[in-house]
Amino acid sequence: TNRVFSGIKPSGDLHLGNYLGAIRRFVPLQQQYECIYCVVDMHAITVWQDPADLRRRTYEIAAAYIAAGVDPKNHIIFNQSQVAEHAELAWVFNCVARMGWMARMTQFKDKAGKNSENVSLGLFAYPSLMAADILLYKATHVPVGEDQKQHLELARDIAAKFNHDFAPSIAANGYGEEFFPQPEPVITGPATRVMSLRDGTKKMSKSESGSDMATIYLMDDADTITRKIKKAKTDADALPSEAKGLENRAEAANLVGIYAALSDRSVEAVLAEFGGQGFGTFKPALAELAVSVLGPQAAEMRRLVADPGEIEAILRQGADRARELAARTMTEVHDIVGFIR
Ligand code: TYM
Repeated sequence: TNRVFSGIKPSGDLHLGNYLGAIRRFVPLQQQYECIYCVVDMHAITVWQDPADLRRRTYEIAAAYIAAGVDPKNHIIFNQSQVAEHAELAWVFNCVARMGWMARMTQFKDKAGKNSENVSLGLFAYPSLMAADILLYKATHVPVGEDQKQHLELARDIAAKFNHDFAPSIAANGYGEEFFPQPEPVITGPATRVMSLRDGTKKMSKSESGSDMATIYLMDDADTITRKIKKAKTDADALPSEAKGLENRAEAANLVGIYAALSDRSVEAVLAEFGGQGFGTFKPALAELAVSVLGPQAAEMRRLVADPGEIEAILRQGADRARELAARTMTEVHDIVGFIR
């Protein structure tokens, strides 16, 4: 069977990149697949998190999933730390994955910078935990933004090496030929890499720059969203009428991509409408669209986090269901590895 898994870490406030690269694309997958959407709190603590902020952001991400249209009755929403099997499988994977594989991760290199002696061991091993998140549920499809592609390739490598290293034991236990599936990244649509509003060469993120004008946060109010879009960096030319006219125009390409993603249209369709027009026309249209999509969701998020009892119940029930699936895989892994149970 096909199963979807994805996660977001509560290490900073949710922004438009998280929404368009991940959350918005979680929703339609529910029609086709059994979906598991996780708040990966254990990933967040690879860098120091204030406990109160961690809790608040965990609620906010769960609220964002629900506000965007993830259905916690027919699918699973939970926070990672409630299902101990994630850590357990990650340990086994730490013993399957190689140091060299981890050392090649560009996100680790970016985050560690020159000071890699002084980052947490967890930050280095992070992709191993991410592989465990996915493979614990034998998930086949993983919707993420472009920046997670390398981590997913590593998850595939870990799955393959586990299957290979333990092949005789997998067969002897009658667990089939391919124990862990090869999870496929689902990176589709026009906004898989949303860029900073101040610099079209930098990814939109909470830590991208000192300038708060670079990032649209999901909890921003209508005026703030509008102001950030109107102040967004652009060039002086009109929009082209075809996508190839956006080459070498990073800021223009970013704004058109955001418009396309928010309106469920293609970049071509957006340019067919706005080609030949300047940013004086396009930016107000984009601001209006962004406010109309994000505004109601922010309101619903605020309602949900104001009294977190409902979210807590959803996370607890989701964790109970996730644990059942996870425990089954872990039992098999114990048999395969040779742990007595
Ligand atoms: P995280 O928490 O950094 O980001 C969450 C999701 O948002 C996407 N994203 C973006 N997409 C487009 N443009 C951007 N500027 C942008 N910024 C972030 C990310 O690609 C991601 O999909 N390691 C993961 C969390 C994780 C995970 C997993 C994901 C842990 N275990 C298992 C999938 C499956 C992370 O740090 O995402």
